[in-house]
Amino acid sequence: MASLPGAAAVLDRQDCSNGCCGEYNREGGSTEVAETFKAKDLIITPATVLKEKPDPGTLVFGATFTDHMLTVEWSLEAGWEKPHIKPFQNLSLHPGSSALHYAVELLEGLKAFRGVDNRIRLFRPNLNVDRMYRSAVRLTLPVFDKEELLECIQQLVQIDQEWVPYSTSASLYIRPTMIGTEPSLGVKKPTKALLFVILSPVGPYFSSGTFNPVSLWADPKYVRAWEGGTGDYKIGGNYGACLLAQCEAAEKGCQQVLWLYGKDQQITEVGTMNLFLYWINEEGEEELATPPLDGIILPGVTRQSILELTRDWGEFKVSERVLTMDELTAALEGDRVREMFGSGTACVVCPVSDILYKGQMLHIPTMENGPKLTSRIFSKLTDIQYGREDSDWTVVLS
Ligand SMILES: Cc1ncc(COP(=O)(O)O)c(C=O)c1O
Repeated sequence: MASLPGAAAVLDRQDCSNGCCGEYNREGGSTEVAETFKAKDLIITPATVLKEKPDPGTLVFGATFTDHMLTVEWSLEAGWEKPHIKPFQNLSLHPGSSALHYAVELLEGLKAFRGVDNRIRLFRPNLNVDRMYRSAVRLTLPVFDKEELLECIQQLVQIDQEWVPYSTSASLYIRPTMIGTEPSLGVKKPTKALLFVILSPVGPYFSSGTFNPVSLWADPKYVRAWEGGTGDYKIGGNYGACLLAQCEAAEKGCQQVLWLYGKDQQITEVGTMNLFLYWINEEGEEELATPPLDGIILPGVTRQSILELTRDWGEFKVSERVLTMDELTAALEGDRVREMFGSGTACVVCPVSDILYKGQMLHIPTMENGPKLTSRIFSKLTDIQYGREDSDWTVVLS
């Protein structure tokens, strides 16, 4: 018999022991189950056959995987099982699993770099596990101890360390994921989940070492995220829903979508990157601006790093502010735009050269202006990632 949505919500809350309803647990819910997995409990089953490592120059993003993976199972009755590093393999899932039907799925993306000193570094991985935790709460997936997850990830990378490319333009992409494995078609909070982490070596984003600027298609026809939605979480549903717009951008001869929002056509993100505009603003000030974290923007690790870095330089105004297409076109007409770039783990920074908007191709003079700031940020962040510069932003594997 179908139950009322309200009644289901009450039942779910009473049943909750996955940590997302922490208040209830603190006030007397069962704490018998394992509330987190622990790295000290790791079970390690080494692969018996190791794959051949590809040449980093030939890698296609996300298409090659290493020898091992991490899995941790969770159920409402037992809590978290012991984490397991095992040979990379297919998953076996019940076809009713809620991840497959209702996108009860979250993901993360970070990288391991082999530095000039041959040591392996992760870049600000604590920010990724923080974001993953927030995504888990948003999807009613179980939460976990972030430090324990980070330690398990480090051990996985350690085991597959030979897969971290011997190159200062390539890296090992780390993809932590969690899926609801509830074997039921009911739309409800999962009582079963699987956390897993897979690794994929990736080549240079900009082949030949020089920046390739991207052209963008800006059309309010498709909206990536909205207030009260899930745009500020890294969850699978946000991405599948963007593919049609991405294909339409390609049909129009553009490489990425510039996501607009609202009646005033705010500029929000570029493809799967945050966006920065370096310009002379309406007040005549030199400014590096990026849209604010108002719920529709993914709080990027690279975005945060660029804001902290440039604020530390103290050379120009650095703002988190709304930017609209009208403001951008006025600035282009007034010759006030210096550079525009996207930011993200995959590329660090990616210059923007053109925007197709209302049937007109707007040229952004990023490349004509160096791109001075884009290149400086790229060098600074990659110096940290590859150990050319010491920084407490990196975690060095022991
Ligand atoms: C929608 C979206 N925006 C921005 C970013 C950039 O975030 P980060 O710098 O953490 O890679 C990503 C990539 O994760 C993304 O998927």
